[in-house]
Amino acid sequence: MSQPQAQSIFAMPVLAEVGQHDFERSARVLRARAGIVIGSHKLEMAARTLGLRTKSMGLSNVKEYLDHLEQNPHSAEWEAFVNAFTINHTAFFREQHHFDVLAKFAKSRKKPFSVWCAASSTGEEPYTIAMTLRESCLQPDVGVSIFATDIDTRAVERAREGVYSLERVQPVPEEYLKKYFQRGTGRREGMVRVKSNIRDMVEFDTFNLLSNVWPAERKFDAIFCRNTMIYFDKPTQTRILERFAPMLKPGGLLFAGHSENFTYLTKAFRLQGQTVYTPS
Ligand SMILES: C[S@@+](CC[C@H](N)C(=O)[O-])C[C@H]1O[C@@H](n2cnc3c(N)ncnc32)[C@H](O)[C@@H]1O
Repeated sequence: MSQPQAQSIFAMPVLAEVGQHDFERSARVLRARAGIVIGSHKLEMAARTLGLRTKSMGLSNVKEYLDHLEQNPHSAEWEAFVNAFTINHTAFFREQHHFDVLAKFAKSRKKPFSVWCAASSTGEEPYTIAMTLRESCLQPDVGVSIFATDIDTRAVERAREGVYSLERVQPVPEEYLKKYFQRGTGRREGMVRVKSNIRDMVEFDTFNLLSNVWPAERKFDAIFCRNTMIYFDKPTQTRILERFAPMLKPGGLLFAGHSENFTYLTKAFRLQGQTVYTPS
């Protein structure tokens, strides 16, 4: 049977326009800007994205689009380009063992206690950190703060709103759901919103881990940078790790994703527990 027409009308002209050369160039541009490495299995998705972005800019082909980006490092289009290629997969209480470690660690530290969640996506991770700290600290309103950043401006916006479907909050313990979320009504039926006592603990901002200017004046007890370094090449991972190390207070902890191993990348950190590192 032939393919449904709607699909071929949408996909074919764009795919035809974006050849291997354009794809490789866009992958280079993306990697230089955001560190994200995309393989050729992403060609179809990239072709579609580049085609749509090119059209929305009123340009006639992808070459012109990539010329525009490369010739205008401050163009507003960079934001849409990077946002289109980020993978925001995340969840509440993802890799639960880290939150058990965090709860115990927070109890052992002096206030102020601060955490940087360095690729916070749509907010599930920093809000999980906030709930964990609220439960484990005697006076969470005093001297506990979370700085949450991501390169993806849309994800940061959604994180700030703190609105999730009931399906997204399934991993949240029932008791926390009652304490820390309010149910939506009317237009927001079937959704929940993180309550302000948790939202106010988190300061959101956009930040590119490849940036040359880091918030160097800030020091943290813990940094979460999970499931993000896997998208970067090894030299980029090493550079970022070596910038994280001096941002931790003595004895601070770096939490990595389940498939990330930094042991052989740098001497700046040593393994302290399951995917938890401390500066050497
Ligand atoms: C797969 S999500 C991981 C989210 C969360 N840390 C977790 O483990 O559930 C990866 C996040 O890294 C962000 N990211 C990718 N490149 C980045 C960069 N150069 N700087 C900051 N964030 C970046 C993406 O926008 C995305 O939200």
